[in-house]
Amino acid sequence: MKATYVALTIFAIIVLINLGCRHEIQFPKTSGGGSDTSGTTTPTPPPPPPITGSACSPDTVYFTNVILPLLTSNCAMSGCHNGTSGGDAGDYTLNTYAGIMKIVSPGNASGSKLVSVISNGSMPPKGHTAITTAQLTQIKTWINQGALNNTCTSSSCDTTNVTYANSITPILQSNCTGCHSGGSPSGGVDLTTYANVLIQINNGKLWGDVSHASGYNAMPVGGASLSACDLNIINNWIKKGAPNN
Ligand code: HEC
Repeated sequence: MKATYVALTIFAIIVLINLGCRHEIQFPKTSGGGSDTSGTTTPTPPPPPPITGSACSPDTVYFTNVILPLLTSNCAMSGCHNGTSGGDAGDYTLNTYAGIMKIVSPGNASGSKLVSVISNGSMPPKGHTAITTAQLTQIKTWINQGALNNTCTSSSCDTTNVTYANSITPILQSNCTGCHSGGSPSGGVDLTTYANVLIQINNGKLWGDVSHASGYNAMPVGGASLSACDLNIINNWIKKGAPNN
């Protein structure tokens, strides 16, 4: 009798512990990932890749790390310079190195069309988020450094002390909010507030999309994948429960 009572108590404790763990955010395991794969099963998104590559020099502005995400997010949204839309978009494809180089004169920022259309205020057009002075300075520096197709891996990639404010927000601002902000954000998804980001975390789509898992919509659209450093930061933040810290 006593043994049965002890066994039941232990069983109850185990059940309670398991219930307590249910509140952790789960990475999606089965269906419900990509919106374009109705009815099919979506496999588990891959873990983040290992962090490799040459270290970043603080004085260099790198194409893959800074310029490509900046121009993809602010200029290559649907209907603009993504190489497939109408208007003059086909002539100015701003989510590839080759396309960007058509309006860049290496070593000569002030003689580059990319700089002049931003400086004179004609691009991005009204209604779109403007390029900040700091971002324009990065573009000019990259051009004056030779407009190289270069990349680096930050040796100070801190994937442990991740916070929403200091780790996640800057990644989204550099890579995503050019499209995912404003009155009609891409896909109807705004990524400028914690509440809105959390929705895309909880439904599993943000990780599925940025990890380029099959069955999801690869993000950023048209651009290169996020760096291994950024992917590890996002992954760890999600594993910690995606806190608003
Ligand atoms: C060039 C524009 C553009 C950029 C940059 C971009 N997105 Fe998207 N995003 C879209 C479009 C368009 C959709 C609608 C789905 C589609 O057509 O692929 C979308 C949809 C989404 C969705 C909704 C779920 C889904 O898959 O439909 C999420 C989440 C998302 N993007 C996350 C991101 C993140 C995170 C980044 C930055 C790492 C990013 N996006 C960068 C254009 C963009």
